[in-house]
Amino acid sequence: MGKTIIISNRLPVQLQISNGGISAIPSVGGLATGMKSVHSGSDSVWIGWSGLTDEEIPKKLAPKIDQALAEHGSAKVNLTAKEVDGFYYGFSNRTIWPLFHYFLEYSEFELESWNVYKAVNQKFADAILEKAEDDDIVWVHDYQLMLVPQMVRAKRPDISIGFFLHIPFPSFEIFRTLPWREEVLEGLLGADLIGFHTYDYERHFLSSVRRLLGLEVSFNDIYLNDRIIKVDSFPMGIDYKKFSEAAKEHEKNTTSQQTELQQRLNNHKRSTPDAKLILSIDRLDYSKGIAKRLNAFEYFLNKFPQYKEKVRLIILAVPSRSNVPQYQLLKKEVDELIGRINGDFSTVSWTPIWYFYRSVPFENLIDLYTSSDIAWLTPLRDGMNLVAKEYIATRTDKTGVLILSEMAGSANEMNESLLVNPNNFEQTANAIYEAINMPIEEQKERNTELQKRLERYNVERWANDFMSSLKEQKERDAANI
Ligand code: UDP
Ligand code: G6P
Repeated sequence: MGKTIIISNRLPVQLQISNGGISAIPSVGGLATGMKSVHSGSDSVWIGWSGLTDEEIPKKLAPKIDQALAEHGSAKVNLTAKEVDGFYYGFSNRTIWPLFHYFLEYSEFELESWNVYKAVNQKFADAILEKAEDDDIVWVHDYQLMLVPQMVRAKRPDISIGFFLHIPFPSFEIFRTLPWREEVLEGLLGADLIGFHTYDYERHFLSSVRRLLGLEVSFNDIYLNDRIIKVDSFPMGIDYKKFSEAAKEHEKNTTSQQTELQQRLNNHKRSTPDAKLILSIDRLDYSKGIAKRLNAFEYFLNKFPQYKEKVRLIILAVPSRSNVPQYQLLKKEVDELIGRINGDFSTVSWTPIWYFYRSVPFENLIDLYTSSDIAWLTPLRDGMNLVAKEYIATRTDKTGVLILSEMAGSANEMNESLLVNPNNFEQTANAIYEAINMPIEEQKERNTELQKRLERYNVERWANDFMSSLKEQKERDAANI
């Protein structure tokens, strides 16, 4: 068997130019964090965009870029500023992202961005074709590269191609509004296997294929000319061991080994031992429902005033796609809401919301997960939401309560959490109340079940399931059964 070529817009690291040299910072987002674990344990090369445009790279640093990426088993696709604008900020994040997350009113349908998206997808496909040898397997990831499977197949019909979508696939009624809907489906159908996080996304996709392309679909199979394409759901897991072991190590730290953040969190616990810490971590994205969560928090404080000074909400909002106007507006809205709520409710000894607008290193992520009594993750739509899984994996003593949105893909596998509709403030406020008052025994019972499942269906298992299914599909297709 040959190597696996992983291809996605984001690489495991993003390059930056600082002090005249190149530095690599870890990429954020579920695709990068999850695939990083898969990539490091396999014979694979990861192709993607370095995070720098051609114009940003001084000539003398160009060779260093390849070297910096090679250290992470990666290779780059070069993109100009104009391409990044049309492909990434444009079609990917102003058309597909909002549309697939049911924010129809945010979706812009611009022919020019679509054309750049096509051209850039061809660049990614060419990068694969340049590296692909017989017996290699190509694994294409996510909504930025939906045309790549067909572009690769056109030149190399022999090669195995898998595609995985990390975001929801919307219902037919939403998807049909896209002017280039047939082309997108045809692009995806270049793959031998198309994977989604949940059965619902899979069902929506099959329904669009049937209704828009008129193809025959039987169970999980799509019949296209002389080919059969398999569609299936593979809920993505996390690197369970990495998180649980990091949490175990974290417990052993002496005060001098603790991070500054952990020491601050400890001080808070010492000064108010009966106060609960509620944690919310997301990229600053409108699909994550952060503004709604803040409104729901205010609703909770008004409904249960006895918890004033007894709860503290930590909001970690990771900067994301800040060139897109909707993200800039959201930042303003969140800043203002937090300012207002803190202004209205703070006392001399209590600030209800601690707000961090940044990404944090892994050790601080572990500080936050292990110190928080409650994780409150209520996206309005989310393909999966790995943060929910990571929080549970770090709860070594099995305490802690997860409040999770029904609209997150992970809700399907995390029934023991408190599932809420993020639009229902009454239900959400009651869930916070329930979480604060949940007996330790009940917390442990719920988390024991959750941990067992997360440990078993970890990210390695997810990747192996996908890869074996792809292999099986290729054999079936070759034998024409
Ligand atoms: N994350 C990170 N740095 C941070 C905060 C979060 O790398 O400062 C990671 C987090 O550990 C998780 C990912 O970002 O693996 C977020 O994935 P999720 O599926 O929850 O949402 P996405 O951002 O992919 O929509
Ligand atoms: C989601 C998407 C990924 C993306 C990540 C971060 O997880 O599914 O494809 O990489 O968000 O977003 P960004 O735009 O920074 O790559």
